[in-house]
Amino acid sequence: MRRLRLSFGVVLAGLWGAAGAASAMEAGTGDPVRGGELWAQQCAMCHALSPAAEEGLGPHLADLIGRPVAGVEGYAGYSEALRALAGQGAVWDVERLRAFLRAPYREVPGTRMGFGGLDSASDTDHLIAFLTEAGPDASTAESGFRVPREVLAIEGETDWGEFLAAECSTCHRRDGSADGIPAITGWDTRSFVTVMHAYREKVRPNPTMQTIAARLSDEEIAALAAYFATLERAPH
Ligand code: HEC
Ligand code: HEC
Repeated sequence: MRRLRLSFGVVLAGLWGAAGAASAMEAGTGDPVRGGELWAQQCAMCHALSPAAEEGLGPHLADLIGRPVAGVEGYAGYSEALRALAGQGAVWDVERLRAFLRAPYREVPGTRMGFGGLDSASDTDHLIAFLTEAGPDASTAESGFRVPREVLAIEGETDWGEFLAAECSTCHRRDGSADGIPAITGWDTRSFVTVMHAYREKVRPNPTMQTIAARLSDEEIAALAAYFATLERAPH
C-alpha cells in the first residue's frame, strides 16, 4: 500500500519537474471539501481555526496563508526550531506550507508538532485549498475532539512504556527510521497522547491503529508516550 503510494509520489515528482506543472499546482487544484475532511481527521484535534476558540495543543491557524511563522502571540508552545525560522522572517506561503505538511520533521527539525506528514501531494493540495478558503465559518470542520487536560497531564512511566512498546516495534522502528510505517520516536509527549486518543476515539481513520489504541488505557498511552519521547528521532 505504502509502496504504491511511494511510486505514485515518484511519478508526481517527475511531473513536478516538467515545465509549468508547479505553477499549475500553485493555482490550487485541491478540493476544499476533501480538505475539510482531512482537517477534521488529521489536524482539528490539535488546532483551532479561529483565534477565539479554546486553545489547542498547537496554535490556532486562522488566516494561515501569508501569516508569519510562529506568529500567534498568545501561544506559548512554539519550539526553538520554529522560532528560529520566524527570526529569519519566514511566512507560511503555499510552498513552505506544502513542504512542512508533507514532512514536518524534515522541513523543521526539532518541531514539537507530533504529526508525521500527509501521505500524498494531492492530500496536501486539498488541505491547502481548505485552509485558503477557511474563514470563521469553517467551524463545522472542527471535529471538537480534544483530549482533556487531566489526561494530557498523566505522568507516563518510561519503563512500563518500554515494556508495552514491544507490540509497537513489530511495525514502528525503535531507531526512528520510517520504512512504510511512520516514525514515532522523539515526539512531544502531549502530541503523542493526543494522536493515540484520536485513534482510540476513531477520529483518525486508520483501522489498525484504532484497534491497537482501543486496547490501551490512558495510563498505558502516557507510558508509551514517555518511552518513545526518550528515543532519538530518525536522522534525515
Ligand atoms: C498532535 C498535535 C498536532 C497535529 C495532529 C497537528 N499539529 Fe500542527 N502544530 C502542533 C504544534 C504543537 C505546533 C507548534 C510546533 C512548533 O512550535 O514546533 C504546530 C504548528 C503548526 C503550524 C505552524 C503554525 C505557526 O503559527 O507557525 C502549522 C501551519 C500547522 N501546525 C499545521 C497543521 C496542519 C495543517 C495539520 C493537519 C494536517 C496539523 N498541523 C496537525 C500540533 C499538531
Ligand atoms: C500492525 C502494524 C502497527 C502496529 C503493531 C502499531 N502501529 Fe502505529 N501505525 C501503523 C500505521 C500503518 C500507521 C499510519 C496510520 C495512519 O496513516 O493514520 C501508524 C501510525 C501511528 C502513529 C501516528 C503517526 C503519525 O505520523 O501520525 C502513532 C503515534 C502510532 N502509530 C503509535 C503506535 C504505538 C504506540 C503502537 C504500539 C502500542 C503502535 N503504533 C503499533 C502501524 C502499526
